[in-house]
Amino acid sequence: MQSSERLRFRMAMTNAHLGEALQTLWRSPDLAQLFPEYLILLHQIIRASVPMMEVARSEALKLSPSDPLRQPLADYLAQHIDEEKDHDEWTLEDLGAIGLSRQQILDRIPLPTTAAFVGSQYYWIFHHHPVGLLGYISVLESDPGTTDVYDDLERRTGLPKPLFRTYRMHGELDPQHVKELDDFIDSLPLSENQMSLMGISAMSASIGLAECVSRLTS
Ligand SMILES: [Fe+2]
Repeated sequence: MQSSERLRFRMAMTNAHLGEALQTLWRSPDLAQLFPEYLILLHQIIRASVPMMEVARSEALKLSPSDPLRQPLADYLAQHIDEEKDHDEWTLEDLGAIGLSRQQILDRIPLPTTAAFVGSQYYWIFHHHPVGLLGYISVLESDPGTTDVYDDLERRTGLPKPLFRTYRMHGELDPQHVKELDDFIDSLPLSENQMSLMGISAMSASIGLAECVSRLTS
């Protein structure tokens, strides 16, 4: 079994919970009120993506030159930083479509559940190995919707089209990002310890994200 398949196999154990949390949100009769809250949550998560990848890249470059992951990881992160750049800013702009100002969104203090699942990645980057971040990225890239799903969301909520701009764009780009990430993971000479770290990182991200999404509907 390829490394990316092994990672996805582990993710499947926790992704069911995330899938249920998302289904509950999509089926809610209050979806029009909840969808902007979901976008604010996504903003709180993705605003950390580029800074965290920059930290992981710089920690990767501090690894011993004999570590075979050092350069490939730094190169992959440089490329992915470029791909994810400014998505947080665009999400802020999109929320302006329903009258929310940038300041109103930034003033909201992210919940401990959000800080915990995003922030735990820093611990593994600094104190174990930055390759763990690939597990977290796999989870964040793994739920691309389809055009039908976005059309249905727009129709059911009646919310203005510009609100969905970045969310829709993400869904269109992520299948390509998933493919790049899987190919990259499969190209790495990963130890069992590193495979486990990626698995733990992915499962913790998936459980954390599910908790955050569940809070929106509970
Ligand atoms: Fe992506």
